Formats: sequence, structure tokens, C-alpha cells
Amino acid sequence: MQAKWMTEDDIIDECKTFYFAGHETTTSLLSWTMLLLATHQEWQHKAREEVLQIFGQNNPNSAGIPRLKIMNMIIEESLRLYPPIPNIKRRVTKEVRLGNMILPPKLELYISPLALHHDPNIWGEDVHQFKPERFAKGVANATITKTQAAFLPFGFGPRTCVGLNFAIVESKIALAMILQRFVFTLSPTYVHLPVQIFSIRPLHGIHIVLQTV
Ligand code: HEM
Repeated sequence: MQAKWMTEDDIIDECKTFYFAGHETTTSLLSWTMLLLATHQEWQHKAREEVLQIFGQNNPNSAGIPRLKIMNMIIEESLRLYPPIPNIKRRVTKEVRLGNMILPPKLELYISPLALHHDPNIWGEDVHQFKPERFAKGVANATITKTQAAFLPFGFGPRTCVGLNFAIVESKIALAMILQRFVFTLSPTYVHLPVQIFSIRPLHGIHIVLQTV
């Protein structure tokens, strides 16, 4: 049997996928997190305190990053409210039973993290509010139904995003370095208009005013 080699074009394609899948999504996460911290000064303050306590004015390092508990809660809440990928697509290959439904082959399914993340029956009546404390005891305890699978910013199961850990670490480094240097507020010129162009992004950007710490 002939071995299956990757051609140069295959490798270039894979690099493009990584660039696209990694860049657009992490940009979206960082943008919305900046908006949420600019409009919730108490959480921005808490996050900065934590960063300064762990790193001082030094660059973030691998020993300190897992200790950023408050920042982790903020990132999870940001991913809940503004999941960068709002829809996950699946194609049924052979007939399967899902609960009380029979799904025929070739059916295309859209699973919507956006809808699940904004369902008051899962998260409670405060579903639309920015409350990072809901993640204080982990993802499963963040929902009133105690369902881990209701939080899908990176998908779920065997096809879960391969860049999950990289994206979280990258975002924590970027946010920590911003918080060490700047206090930021929302600019009066900001217009809130989330749109979906592959990822969920702010159509007019996030206008913030930076002041050095
Ligand atoms: C905040 C950042 C990110 C978010 C929200 C995100 C979200 C997702 C989602 C929802 C999927 C689909 C999972 C599924 O079908 O169940 C996915 C797949 C994927 N992601 Fe990410 N991603 C992020 C960052 C990254 C980064 C940094 C990389 C690479 C460096 C990356 C590479 C990929 C690849 C290659 C796939 C396809 C995996 C497969 O089909 O087996 N992602 N991502």
C-alpha cells in the first residue's frame, strides 16, 4: 500500500488553518474581554491586583499563569457572553438516535454555543449580565443545571479545539501585560455592534481610553 505523504501544499494549507483558526478567535476573545473590563471597573481592578501580586512588573511566566484564578473566571465569562465561534457544524454520517429524535444520514446540524450560553434555564435569570464569579467553582458549577456541556466556546468531544490551551495562555499573557501598564475605560465614541463574520466581532472595533498605571 502506498504511504500517504503530506505535500508542501498540504502543509501550507494546515499552517493557514492554524493561523486563521487561531488568530481570528483569540482576537475576538481579547476584544470582548477588553470591553467587559472597561465597563466593569471593579473586575478590572481585581484582575490588575491579581496580576501585580503574582508578577509585579515582571513579564508573565509559566509558573504564575496557572495562578491567575480571577483572570480565568473573567475569560470564561467573556467566552460565555461572546463565544468567538457562535455555531458548530456537524454532519450525520449514519442514522443515529439523539434523545427522542432519529437523525438521518447527511443531515447537517448546527449546535449554537451562543444560544446555549444565553439560555436563562441553564444559567439563571442573570444570564445576560457579566458575572465572572459564576465560574468561581468551575464550569460545571457555573450553571444552575450543573451541565458542563452547556459551555462550548471551544466545542466539545473528540473535535474540541486543538488550540484551546494555547489560546487561553496567550490571552492571559496579553491581558496581564496590558493590566500591568494601563487602566482603561470605554470611549464615548464606542458603538456596540457585534456581528458574525466567521467569528463574533465588534463591527466598529472596541474604542477604549488608556491611561498609564
Ligand atoms: C479563543 C480562541 C479560540 C476559540 C474560541 C476556538 C474555538 C474553536 C471551536 C469552537 C472549534 C470547533 C470545535 C468543534 O468542531 O467541536 C475549533 C476548532 C479548531 N481550532 Fe480553535 N479556537 C480558538 C483558538 C485556536 C487556536 C489558537 C488555534 C491554533 C493555534 C486553533 C486551532 C483550531 C483547529 C486546527 C481546529 C479544528 C480542530 C478539528 O477539527 O479537529 N484554535 N476552535
